[in-house]
Amino acid sequence: MHRHNWHGIHAGCVYSDEKRFRKQGYGRMSLINRIFRPKTAYDGSAVYLSEPQELFDLHCHLLPYADDGAGDMEEARELIGQEYEQGVRTVVITTHLREQMFSTPVSRIQKHYHALLQWVRQTEDLKELRIYQSREYYCDERFHALLSGYAAGQKEIAYDDMIYFPEEEILPFGSKKCILMEFSTRRNQEEELQKYTKEALAAGLTPVLAHAERYPAVQTNPDILQQLKKMGVIIQINAEAVLGNEGKLQKELTHRLIETNIADMIASDAHNLQGRRPDLAECRHYLTRKYDGKCAEHLLHDVPYHLIND
Ligand SMILES: [Fe+2]
Repeated sequence: MHRHNWHGIHAGCVYSDEKRFRKQGYGRMSLINRIFRPKTAYDGSAVYLSEPQELFDLHCHLLPYADDGAGDMEEARELIGQEYEQGVRTVVITTHLREQMFSTPVSRIQKHYHALLQWVRQTEDLKELRIYQSREYYCDERFHALLSGYAAGQKEIAYDDMIYFPEEEILPFGSKKCILMEFSTRRNQEEELQKYTKEALAAGLTPVLAHAERYPAVQTNPDILQQLKKMGVIIQINAEAVLGNEGKLQKELTHRLIETNIADMIASDAHNLQGRRPDLAECRHYLTRKYDGKCAEHLLHDVPYHLIND
């Protein structure tokens, strides 16, 4: 296993037009992928000269009946199958938690997760897959209350006429105790980014900024991410934005974040089998062709590997 010192990984992605891949069969695409994938997209026909490292997907919505991700168990199974086919061996399911929008109780999330986990363990074709359950926390007042309670070691907190158990609601993942945090995409939120980052750090957690390319504050001034990185935030960008499926602005921004070594990690943020499928193999192929294999491995393997394993 190729290993890096944790503190040295930010220097791992160097812009270069070196191309070390050749076209061959990368493995079979699923029927659904072949049917729905646009003709202009990656056709699944490339492999690298050296054996590619396993992929990690630390931001996706594959749990059924829980948020706006997989609609049922069948769709969840197909999505997991697609991840595995693409070379993903570690999946962290990050089910939304957001006031007045996504409030599925933890008990129901655990119930569906254990059903999914049982299926994974019983499926011989997925024997190398490691799958974990976490959340994507929208930074609102309830999350603030949960984080504060978690940091203070409170067993329960009262919020909006409800009782919550911070230790159950805050579900960090990986050895670095990561939590994925998202913010409003409609207003400038630089102060909020700082505020919730400090709160997460004070709670002993590693904040991961979900799809950094979406926020007006970052679009206006990408350099604000440098300050967050210095504080300890992991900057995650979405594969679909890198590939250009979210428009020109987000594509250009994600490439700028990659070329300046601000982006730490790419995840799929996959939701369904229609418009938002797992796409990390396609992203790896694209990055390897545009930059180099080292850049792709840094964002899709090395950093997530350290977050999970070190
Ligand atoms: Fe997400």
